[in-house]
Amino acid sequence: MTAPLLERLEPQEADKILRLMAQFANDPRPNKVDLGVGVYRTPEGTTPVMQAVTEAEARLLARQTTKGYVALEGDPAFHAALAELVLGQHRPQDRIAALATPGGTGAVRHGFELARRANPDVTVWMPDPTWPNHPAITAAMAVPARTYRYYDASTGGLDREGMLADLSAVPPGDIVLLHGCCHNPTGADLSAQDWAEIAALCSKTGAVPMIDLAYLGFGEGPQADVAGIRILMDAVPEMLVAVSGSKSFGLYRERVGLLLALCPSAGLRDVVAANMSWLNRLAYAFPPDHGARIVTEVLTDPALRQIWADELDTMRLRIDAIRQELAVALHQQTGTHRFDFLASQKGMFSLIGATPEQVTRLRDAHALYVVGDGRINLAGLTQSHIPQVAKVLAAELV
Ligand SMILES: Cc1ncc(COP(=O)(O)O)c(C=O)c1O
Repeated sequence: MTAPLLERLEPQEADKILRLMAQFANDPRPNKVDLGVGVYRTPEGTTPVMQAVTEAEARLLARQTTKGYVALEGDPAFHAALAELVLGQHRPQDRIAALATPGGTGAVRHGFELARRANPDVTVWMPDPTWPNHPAITAAMAVPARTYRYYDASTGGLDREGMLADLSAVPPGDIVLLHGCCHNPTGADLSAQDWAEIAALCSKTGAVPMIDLAYLGFGEGPQADVAGIRILMDAVPEMLVAVSGSKSFGLYRERVGLLLALCPSAGLRDVVAANMSWLNRLAYAFPPDHGARIVTEVLTDPALRQIWADELDTMRLRIDAIRQELAVALHQQTGTHRFDFLASQKGMFSLIGATPEQVTRLRDAHALYVVGDGRINLAGLTQSHIPQVAKVLAAELV
């Protein structure tokens, strides 16, 4: 007799970051510092509900009279509100199809699936390094993935030449995955010039850009953080954008996401939109609605939108201040400029250039929790941690 079905499953390795979170929670040392999981934290160490979100949610609760199904693609008002935030008022609306998804992760996955439906031989080209879920998702879907050069560890900046050389060789109909802002895990972002060059390359090669936008507002502010996407929108015939509402609205657990497709012509939009709706139908039918409605309320009410923008600014400025202070403290501790890149990078993450052994020592000897690839979340730090953390990093890494 063959083994029972479920006995044939392979043991599954726990998610590394979630495992680190559990280890941190069980660590009794009072001086422990968590720079692991990628969520925003206040100086008090909490991940707050934004005031604009609380207000929007209260209004929704008072107003909502039904929880009936909406539509496979989600609420059109949500599509419009988030598309306006990302692509602007002057976007070519007749060429844009949209799909509400469970979080940015859902949008990323459906983006890959849409590309494969259109081109069964598609390869997804990802920056090296990238968010580990990108290759994990393509591997699970059996979609071929390759990397392009992106990060120069010796400077903490972009390997611009390597990136442009690799992207110039991407075949037509393949996907070029880009991080909209606040590159995870490096914090090294593209300049307007880089975006323009990538747009020119994609127009020439016929490769299709797909932008993963998970940190809108955390880089240089909501307008500046979408500038690159708009450069692409104006230059290429087609592109995909996967938007996450988790960080920018603090709605992590509500699973707010949107997949946008810029179509080569208005005539194609309905076909593309129908294919997108079908992806939802096959996966879980209807997308989550509650968080999407909160985002719609926040973005379409001018007063709430202003409160949200101010709160987002506060988060961004806090991370930036931590970056500046840690860079200065590390300069003082090491007497070198090795960590200066921390000050110019964007968003919550940077790579500190630690080996896996050093990461283990940081945790075991100093209660400093860093992801295995040496990624730190700057939002995990408070001003009061900085002297201690700088001292430990200088002692262990230099
Ligand atoms: C680069 C990147 N893309 C997408 C996501 C998706 O986030 P969510 O599915 O929570 O919206 C994340 C979250 O960590 C991310 O870092």
